[in-house]
Amino acid sequence: MSLDLDAIRADTDGLDVVHFNSAGSSLPPRPVIDAVVEYLQYEARVGGYEAAADRIEELDDFYDATASYLGCDPSEVAFCAGAGDAWWRAFSAIPLQAGDRILLSRSEYQANAFGFMQAEERGVELTLIPHDRQGMIDLDVLAAELDERVRIVSLTHVAMSNGAIQPAAAVGQLLADHPAIYLLDSCQAAGQIPLDVDELGCDFLVYTGRKWMRGPRATGVLYARSSVLDQLGPQPYIDGRSAEWLDTGGYELMPGARRFEYGEQFYAGRCGLAVATRYLLDLGAEHIAARTQALAARLREGLSSLPEVDVHDEGGPRGGAVTFTIRGEATPAIGATLRANGVVLSVPGRRNAQFDLGPRGLDAVIRAAPHYFNTADEIDRAIAVVATI
Ligand SMILES: Cc1ncc(COP(=O)(O)O)c(C=O)c1O
Repeated sequence: MSLDLDAIRADTDGLDVVHFNSAGSSLPPRPVIDAVVEYLQYEARVGGYEAAADRIEELDDFYDATASYLGCDPSEVAFCAGAGDAWWRAFSAIPLQAGDRILLSRSEYQANAFGFMQAEERGVELTLIPHDRQGMIDLDVLAAELDERVRIVSLTHVAMSNGAIQPAAAVGQLLADHPAIYLLDSCQAAGQIPLDVDELGCDFLVYTGRKWMRGPRATGVLYARSSVLDQLGPQPYIDGRSAEWLDTGGYELMPGARRFEYGEQFYAGRCGLAVATRYLLDLGAEHIAARTQALAARLREGLSSLPEVDVHDEGGPRGGAVTFTIRGEATPAIGATLRANGVVLSVPGRRNAQFDLGPRGLDAVIRAAPHYFNTADEIDRAIAVVATI
């Protein structure tokens, strides 16, 4: 079965420009927008609490749909406000003490890096695992560093500054017999490739709604393996959805991943992300991955053929995001120039990805991220626009 591109594009507003920013914030399909708007209108008619009670089946389909995508139990899924928010809810529940070690990767996102820096201020030791020559996390170094003091192994599945897809399942296999908690940031992977938490072997996995998932902004997912919960403390902020205030005094955390949720949340967004996830499941994550990677490969090839362009994605496999610079052009300013010429993308800077861009001597990269709703013609148009700069 191949994707019905005409139907997909008919569902997508905003295609009057070449939208290559699915790694930043994608274009949600019509059913997602309709679900969010319709829910907000219903809230306006009956009130927020009443809407949540009346629409509980749609709201709870978020857990079922997400569990189908990730291959987990719905009770292992929490609705969050984004990937950073989901990551912090997980990270801050992991008890750490001075002398513990965290192994992290060069693909790490800035918000995660800040969390690790805060742990370091409390005496936790950080070890940055290098990349091998293919730009993948060096599994031999990782295996050699895995001692009994390691409490967390963290990997960002796809960096925001590099199209390479890291070998997340191989890291999971290395950790199979080690008690360290495996924290996987799949923010740039979810929605562009299939994800199976058992194959990945992760304890936590986070992603955002608005990128490759094509969900609403301010939505995100935290997957928490049920077997990891016993090793955790409560995250610093809990409320009446995360815990129960007992008659006998004290509190008890809710079972499953519900302990990571807050009562006040973006209910319309939860419906929207449920619909976005069903949309993805209907199309098939494998089909999405195949089409997205084929479009990105065409873009890499076309850009590489331009004499002034350097494509920077490392190794392989490589996903939908294509990162490059144009020699002699100030990279941060290029985003606006390209947008003025009808090509929308983003330009991540070194401050977003010090571990990745810093050692490669890059201050910023231009990131073009075509998704399955884009076309070969749009790829060729974008290459032609870059060629004129
Ligand atoms: C790899 C990665 N992790 C985490 C995040 C944070 O996501 P959010 O903005 O939803 O918190 C991003 C956002 O760009 C990202 O690229």
